[in-house]
Amino acid sequence: MAMQTKISALLSEVESFTASSLHEVEEFRVKLFGKKGEVTLLFDEFKQVSGEVKRELGKKINELKSKAQDRVSELRQALEASPSPTLLLDTSRPGSADSVGTRHPIASARSEILNIFRQLGFTVAEGPEIEDDRHVFGALNFPPEHPARDMQDTFFIEKREGDDNPVLLRTHTSSIQVRAMESQQPPIRIVCPGRVFRNEAISARAHCMFHQVEGLYVDHSVSFADLKQTLLYFAKELFGANVEIRLRPSFFPFTEPSAEMDVSCSICGGKGCNICKGTGWLEVSGCGMVDPSVLDACKIDSQKYSGFAFGMGVERIAMLKYQARDLRLYFENDVRFLRQFTAVV
Ligand code: DAH
Repeated sequence: MAMQTKISALLSEVESFTASSLHEVEEFRVKLFGKKGEVTLLFDEFKQVSGEVKRELGKKINELKSKAQDRVSELRQALEASPSPTLLLDTSRPGSADSVGTRHPIASARSEILNIFRQLGFTVAEGPEIEDDRHVFGALNFPPEHPARDMQDTFFIEKREGDDNPVLLRTHTSSIQVRAMESQQPPIRIVCPGRVFRNEAISARAHCMFHQVEGLYVDHSVSFADLKQTLLYFAKELFGANVEIRLRPSFFPFTEPSAEMDVSCSICGGKGCNICKGTGWLEVSGCGMVDPSVLDACKIDSQKYSGFAFGMGVERIAMLKYQARDLRLYFENDVRFLRQFTAVV
Protein backbone atom coordinates (compact mmCIF):
# COMPACT_ATOMS: atom_id res chain seq x y z
CA MET A 1 0.00 0.00 0.00
CA ALA A 2 1.29 3.39 -0.81
CA MET A 3 2.26 5.38 2.29
CA GLN A 4 -0.22 8.07 1.41
CA THR A 5 -3.11 5.61 1.50
CA LYS A 6 -1.91 4.01 4.72
CA ILE A 7 -1.75 7.41 6.40
CA SER A 8 -5.30 8.31 5.33
CA ALA A 9 -6.64 4.93 6.48
CA LEU A 10 -4.98 5.30 9.87
CA LEU A 11 -6.14 8.87 10.19
CA SER A 12 -9.77 7.90 9.75
CA GLU A 13 -9.25 4.96 12.13
CA VAL A 14 -7.91 7.36 14.75
CA GLU A 15 -10.78 9.77 14.28
CA SER A 16 -13.48 7.14 14.60
CA PHE A 17 -11.82 5.21 17.43
CA THR A 18 -13.67 5.04 20.76
CA ALA A 19 -12.97 2.90 23.79
CA SER A 20 -14.97 1.75 26.78
CA SER A 21 -12.05 0.94 29.01
CA LEU A 22 -8.53 2.13 29.72
CA HIS A 23 -7.37 -1.29 28.64
CA GLU A 24 -8.79 -0.74 25.15
CA VAL A 25 -7.08 2.65 24.93
CA GLU A 26 -3.77 1.10 25.86
CA GLU A 27 -4.23 -1.63 23.25
CA PHE A 28 -4.88 1.02 20.63
CA ARG A 29 -1.82 2.99 21.67
CA VAL A 30 0.39 -0.10 21.37
CA LYS A 31 -1.18 -0.93 17.99
CA LEU A 32 -0.04 2.49 16.71
CA PHE A 33 3.07 3.39 18.69
CA GLY A 34 4.41 0.07 19.97
CA LYS A 35 7.71 -1.32 18.66
CA LYS A 36 5.85 -2.88 15.75
CA GLY A 37 3.06 -0.33 15.84
CA GLU A 38 1.62 0.97 12.60
CA VAL A 39 2.75 4.55 13.09
CA THR A 40 6.20 3.40 14.23
CA LEU A 41 6.53 1.32 11.06
CA LEU A 42 5.41 4.26 8.96
CA PHE A 43 8.23 6.35 10.39
CA ASP A 44 10.70 3.54 9.57
CA GLU A 45 9.36 3.43 6.05
CA PHE A 46 9.55 7.21 5.82
CA LYS A 47 13.34 7.05 6.32
CA GLN A 48 13.62 5.41 2.89
CA VAL A 49 11.67 8.18 1.19
CA SER A 50 13.54 10.82 -0.70
CA GLY A 51 12.92 13.63 -3.08
CA GLU A 52 9.93 15.79 -3.67
CA VAL A 53 7.32 13.80 -1.77
CA LYS A 54 9.33 13.72 1.44
CA ARG A 55 8.17 17.08 2.71
CA GLU A 56 4.56 16.44 1.93
CA LEU A 57 4.58 12.95 3.50
CA GLY A 58 6.50 14.14 6.53
CA LYS A 59 3.82 16.69 7.23
CA LYS A 60 1.09 14.06 6.91
CA ILE A 61 2.84 11.54 9.14
CA ASN A 62 3.42 14.11 11.85
CA GLU A 63 -0.20 15.18 11.64
CA LEU A 64 -1.27 11.54 12.04
CA LYS A 65 1.08 11.11 14.97
CA SER A 66 -0.18 14.11 16.86
CA LYS A 67 -3.85 13.35 16.13
CA ALA A 68 -3.36 9.80 17.37
CA GLN A 69 -1.58 10.98 20.52
CA ASP A 70 -4.31 13.51 21.22
CA ARG A 71 -7.02 10.90 20.73
CA VAL A 72 -5.30 8.49 23.12
CA SER A 73 -4.88 11.04 25.90
CA GLU A 74 -8.37 12.44 25.37
CA LEU A 75 -9.97 8.99 25.77
CA ARG A 76 -7.75 8.17 28.71
CA GLN A 77 -8.77 11.32 30.56
CA ALA A 78 -12.46 10.76 29.88
CA LEU A 79 -12.32 7.19 31.19
CA GLU A 80 -10.36 8.12 34.26
CA ALA A 81 -12.86 10.82 35.10
CA SER A 82 -15.96 8.62 34.98
CA PRO A 83 -16.43 4.87 35.15
CA SER A 84 -17.18 3.24 31.88
CA PRO A 85 -20.90 3.31 31.09
CA THR A 86 -20.59 -0.11 29.52
CA LEU A 87 -19.18 -1.44 32.78
CA LEU A 88 -22.27 -0.26 34.61
CA LEU A 89 -24.57 -1.60 31.96
CA ASP A 90 -22.86 -4.93 31.41
CA THR A 91 -25.77 -7.29 31.94
CA SER A 92 -23.55 -10.34 31.56
CA ARG A 93 -21.59 -9.57 34.73
CA PRO A 94 -22.44 -11.79 37.72
CA GLY A 95 -24.83 -10.01 40.06
CA SER A 96 -23.86 -9.12 43.61
CA ALA A 97 -26.18 -11.01 45.93
CA ASP A 98 -28.11 -8.96 48.47
CA SER A 99 -27.51 -10.38 51.90
CA VAL A 100 -30.72 -11.29 53.68
CA GLY A 101 -31.15 -9.64 57.05
CA THR A 102 -31.58 -11.73 60.16
CA ARG A 103 -33.33 -11.26 63.44
CA HIS A 104 -31.37 -9.63 66.19
CA PRO A 105 -30.52 -12.18 68.90
CA ILE A 106 -32.43 -10.14 71.48
CA ALA A 107 -35.52 -10.13 69.26
CA SER A 108 -35.18 -13.89 68.80
CA ALA A 109 -34.83 -14.55 72.51
CA ARG A 110 -37.77 -12.25 73.24
CA SER A 111 -40.08 -13.97 70.80
CA GLU A 112 -38.99 -17.39 71.98
CA ILE A 113 -39.92 -16.44 75.55
CA LEU A 114 -43.25 -14.94 74.52
CA ASN A 115 -44.18 -17.92 72.35
CA ILE A 116 -43.76 -20.32 75.26
CA PHE A 117 -46.13 -18.30 77.43
CA ARG A 118 -48.56 -17.91 74.54
CA GLN A 119 -48.91 -21.70 74.54
CA LEU A 120 -50.09 -21.40 78.14
CA GLY A 121 -52.75 -18.85 77.27
CA PHE A 122 -50.84 -15.67 78.17
CA THR A 123 -51.38 -12.67 75.91
CA VAL A 124 -48.84 -9.94 75.23
CA ALA A 125 -49.27 -6.53 76.86
CA GLU A 126 -47.06 -3.50 76.44
CA GLY A 127 -46.67 -0.17 78.17
CA PRO A 128 -44.82 3.14 77.88
CA GLU A 129 -41.07 3.46 78.40
CA ILE A 130 -41.55 6.94 79.82
CA GLU A 131 -43.53 6.26 82.95
CA ASP A 132 -44.38 7.87 86.24
CA ASP A 133 -43.33 7.00 89.75
CA ARG A 134 -46.70 5.53 90.63
CA HIS A 135 -46.61 2.82 87.96
CA VAL A 136 -42.93 1.96 88.40
CA PHE A 137 -42.69 2.20 92.19
CA GLY A 138 -45.69 3.54 94.12
CA ALA A 139 -48.35 0.98 93.23
CA LEU A 140 -45.74 -1.77 93.45
CA ASN A 141 -45.22 -1.18 97.14
CA PHE A 142 -41.79 0.47 96.97
CA PRO A 143 -41.35 2.48 100.15
CA PRO A 144 -40.66 6.20 99.60
CA GLU A 145 -37.05 5.88 100.71
CA HIS A 146 -36.27 2.83 98.55
CA PRO A 147 -32.87 3.25 96.79
CA ALA A 148 -34.42 2.53 93.35
CA ARG A 149 -36.22 5.85 93.72
CA ASP A 150 -32.89 7.59 93.88
CA MET A 151 -31.34 9.54 90.98
CA GLN A 152 -28.38 7.19 91.23
CA ASP A 153 -30.43 4.26 89.98
CA THR A 154 -33.27 5.80 88.00
CA PHE A 155 -33.31 8.23 85.08
CA PHE A 156 -35.79 10.95 85.89
CA ILE A 157 -37.22 12.99 83.04
CA GLU A 158 -38.40 15.68 85.38
CA LYS A 159 -38.06 15.79 89.13
CA ARG A 160 -39.34 18.85 90.89
CA GLU A 161 -39.07 19.49 94.58
CA GLY A 162 -42.10 18.04 96.33
CA ASP A 163 -43.48 16.26 93.23
CA ASP A 164 -44.65 12.87 94.49
CA ASN A 165 -45.25 11.39 91.03
CA PRO A 166 -42.27 12.41 88.86
CA VAL A 167 -41.87 11.30 85.25
CA LEU A 168 -39.06 8.80 84.69
CA LEU A 169 -37.77 6.03 82.43
CA ARG A 170 -39.15 2.73 83.66
CA THR A 171 -36.59 0.63 85.47
CA HIS A 172 -38.53 -2.59 85.03
CA THR A 173 -41.50 -3.90 83.05
CA SER A 174 -43.41 -4.57 86.28
CA SER A 175 -45.01 -1.17 85.56
CA ILE A 176 -47.05 -2.89 82.84
CA GLN A 177 -48.66 -5.15 85.47
CA VAL A 178 -49.94 -2.05 87.20
CA ARG A 179 -51.37 -0.65 83.98
CA ALA A 180 -53.03 -3.98 83.16
CA MET A 181 -54.59 -4.35 86.61
CA GLU A 182 -55.80 -0.76 86.59
CA SER A 183 -57.57 -1.23 83.29
CA GLN A 184 -59.10 -4.68 83.60
CA GLN A 185 -60.48 -7.07 86.19
CA PRO A 186 -59.30 -10.70 86.53
CA PRO A 187 -58.76 -13.13 84.97
CA ILE A 188 -55.58 -11.44 83.78
CA ARG A 189 -52.89 -13.54 82.15
CA ILE A 190 -50.25 -11.43 80.42
CA VAL A 191 -46.60 -11.35 79.43
CA CYS A 192 -45.09 -7.91 79.05
CA PRO A 193 -41.93 -7.42 77.01
CA GLY A 194 -40.09 -4.12 76.89
CA ARG A 195 -36.99 -1.99 77.24
CA VAL A 196 -35.99 -0.80 80.66
CA PHE A 197 -33.47 1.80 81.79
CA ARG A 198 -31.16 2.05 84.78
CA ASN A 199 -28.48 4.49 85.66
CA GLU A 200 -25.58 2.05 85.42
CA ALA A 201 -22.07 2.39 84.08
CA ILE A 202 -21.77 0.36 80.89
CA SER A 203 -19.61 -2.76 81.15
CA ALA A 204 -19.62 -6.36 79.97
CA ARG A 205 -22.13 -7.18 82.71
CA ALA A 206 -24.26 -4.05 83.01
CA HIS A 207 -25.90 -1.58 80.65
CA CYS A 208 -28.09 1.46 81.09
CA MET A 209 -30.68 -0.08 78.78
CA PHE A 210 -31.81 -3.68 78.51
CA HIS A 211 -34.91 -5.80 77.95
CA GLN A 212 -37.23 -7.64 80.28
CA VAL A 213 -40.27 -9.84 80.04
CA GLU A 214 -42.71 -9.59 82.91
CA GLY A 215 -45.46 -12.11 83.55
CA LEU A 216 -48.67 -11.76 85.55
CA TYR A 217 -51.52 -14.09 86.31
CA VAL A 218 -54.40 -12.96 88.53
CA ASP A 219 -57.56 -14.98 89.07
CA HIS A 220 -59.55 -16.80 91.76
CA SER A 221 -57.29 -18.99 93.91
CA VAL A 222 -54.05 -18.73 91.95
CA SER A 223 -51.43 -20.51 94.04
CA PHE A 224 -47.68 -20.78 94.41
CA ALA A 225 -47.98 -24.29 92.87
CA ASP A 226 -49.39 -22.66 89.71
CA LEU A 227 -46.40 -20.35 89.60
CA LYS A 228 -43.98 -23.23 90.02
CA GLN A 229 -45.62 -25.34 87.32
CA THR A 230 -45.72 -22.41 84.89
CA LEU A 231 -42.02 -21.70 85.40
CA LEU A 232 -41.10 -25.39 85.12
CA TYR A 233 -42.94 -25.62 81.80
CA PHE A 234 -41.19 -22.48 80.60
CA ALA A 235 -37.73 -23.72 81.60
CA LYS A 236 -38.21 -27.08 79.87
CA GLU A 237 -39.48 -25.47 76.69
CA LEU A 238 -36.62 -22.97 76.62
CA PHE A 239 -33.64 -25.07 77.72
CA GLY A 240 -34.74 -28.67 77.07
CA ALA A 241 -36.86 -31.37 78.67
CA ASN A 242 -34.09 -32.51 81.02
CA VAL A 243 -33.69 -29.27 82.96
CA GLU A 244 -34.86 -28.90 86.52
CA ILE A 245 -35.76 -25.73 88.40
CA ARG A 246 -35.34 -24.63 91.99
CA LEU A 247 -36.88 -21.71 93.82
CA ARG A 248 -34.81 -19.82 96.37
CA PRO A 249 -36.44 -17.45 98.85
CA SER A 250 -35.87 -13.82 97.93
CA PHE A 251 -37.40 -10.38 98.37
CA PHE A 252 -39.24 -7.96 96.08
CA PRO A 253 -41.51 -5.20 97.40
CA PHE A 254 -44.37 -6.25 95.12
CA THR A 255 -44.47 -10.00 95.80
CA GLU A 256 -44.97 -11.98 99.01
CA PRO A 257 -43.55 -14.56 99.23
CA SER A 258 -40.84 -13.84 96.69
CA ALA A 259 -38.39 -16.21 95.07
CA GLU A 260 -35.55 -16.43 92.60
CA MET A 261 -35.87 -19.19 90.03
CA ASP A 262 -32.75 -21.11 89.00
CA VAL A 263 -32.57 -23.55 86.11
CA SER A 264 -30.15 -26.48 86.17
CA CYS A 265 -27.25 -25.58 83.91
CA SER A 266 -28.07 -26.87 80.44
CA ILE A 267 -24.46 -26.46 79.36
CA CYS A 268 -22.82 -28.84 81.85
CA GLY A 269 -25.98 -30.73 82.78
CA GLY A 270 -25.68 -29.48 86.37
CA LYS A 271 -22.15 -30.77 86.97
CA GLY A 272 -20.66 -27.29 87.25
CA CYS A 273 -18.91 -25.25 84.55
CA ASN A 274 -17.70 -21.70 84.04
CA ILE A 275 -21.13 -20.55 82.77
CA CYS A 276 -22.87 -21.60 86.00
CA LYS A 277 -19.73 -20.67 87.96
CA GLY A 278 -19.39 -24.22 89.18
CA THR A 279 -22.78 -24.26 90.94
CA GLY A 280 -24.73 -26.29 88.36
CA TRP A 281 -27.53 -23.66 88.46
CA LEU A 282 -28.35 -20.59 86.38
CA GLU A 283 -30.33 -17.71 87.84
CA VAL A 284 -33.12 -16.90 85.39
CA SER A 285 -36.10 -15.11 86.91
CA GLY A 286 -37.44 -13.28 89.92
CA CYS A 287 -40.96 -14.29 90.91
CA GLY A 288 -43.53 -14.49 93.66
CA MET A 289 -47.18 -14.14 94.68
CA VAL A 290 -48.52 -10.65 93.98
CA ASP A 291 -48.57 -8.78 97.29
CA PRO A 292 -52.23 -8.16 98.28
CA SER A 293 -51.45 -4.47 98.76
CA VAL A 294 -50.42 -4.27 95.08
CA LEU A 295 -53.77 -5.77 94.05
CA ASP A 296 -55.58 -3.28 96.27
CA ALA A 297 -53.54 -0.34 94.93
CA CYS A 298 -54.76 -1.34 91.45
CA LYS A 299 -58.39 -1.70 92.57
CA ILE A 300 -58.47 -5.49 92.46
CA ASP A 301 -60.12 -7.08 95.47
CA SER A 302 -57.36 -8.98 97.27
CA GLN A 303 -59.98 -10.87 99.30
CA LYS A 304 -61.37 -12.35 96.10
CA TYR A 305 -58.32 -12.71 93.90
CA SER A 306 -54.71 -13.80 94.10
CA GLY A 307 -51.96 -13.81 91.53
CA PHE A 308 -48.39 -14.63 90.69
CA ALA A 309 -45.80 -12.56 88.83
CA PHE A 310 -42.36 -13.12 87.43
CA GLY A 311 -39.78 -11.05 85.60
CA MET A 312 -36.70 -11.94 83.61
CA GLY A 313 -33.97 -10.26 81.60
CA VAL A 314 -33.98 -11.00 77.88
CA GLU A 315 -30.23 -10.37 77.52
CA ARG A 316 -29.60 -12.85 80.31
CA ILE A 317 -31.63 -15.52 78.47
CA ALA A 318 -29.87 -14.66 75.19
CA MET A 319 -26.47 -14.97 76.87
CA LEU A 320 -27.36 -18.38 78.25
CA LYS A 321 -28.77 -19.59 74.95
CA TYR A 322 -26.17 -18.14 72.59
CA GLN A 323 -23.25 -17.91 75.01
CA ALA A 324 -22.06 -14.47 73.93
CA ARG A 325 -21.37 -13.08 77.34
CA ASP A 326 -20.41 -9.45 76.84
CA LEU A 327 -23.66 -7.46 77.09
CA ARG A 328 -22.28 -4.68 74.93
CA LEU A 329 -22.19 -6.99 71.89
CA TYR A 330 -25.98 -7.02 71.87
CA PHE A 331 -26.19 -3.24 71.54
CA GLU A 332 -23.28 -2.32 69.28
CA ASN A 333 -24.87 -3.95 66.23
CA ASP A 334 -21.58 -4.96 64.70
CA VAL A 335 -22.67 -6.97 61.67
CA ARG A 336 -19.81 -9.45 62.21
CA PHE A 337 -21.48 -10.37 65.51
CA LEU A 338 -25.04 -10.30 64.15
CA ARG A 339 -24.22 -12.44 61.10
CA GLN A 340 -23.48 -15.33 63.42
CA PHE A 341 -27.18 -15.57 64.20
CA THR A 342 -28.38 -16.30 60.67
CA ALA A 343 -29.52 -19.78 61.73
CA VAL A 344 -31.50 -18.49 64.71
CA VAL A 345 -35.15 -17.77 63.91
N1 DAH B 1 -39.01 -6.28 88.45
C1 DAH B 1 -37.94 -7.15 88.91
C2 DAH B 1 -36.61 -6.57 88.45
O1 DAH B 1 -36.58 -5.74 87.63
C3 DAH B 1 -38.10 -8.52 88.35
C4 DAH B 1 -39.25 -9.23 89.00
C5 DAH B 1 -39.07 -9.93 90.16
C6 DAH B 1 -40.49 -9.14 88.46
C7 DAH B 1 -40.09 -10.61 90.75
C8 DAH B 1 -41.57 -9.80 89.07
C9 DAH B 1 -41.34 -10.54 90.23
O2 DAH B 1 -42.80 -9.76 88.58
O3 DAH B 1 -42.37 -11.21 90.78
O4 DAH B 1 -35.59 -6.99 88.94
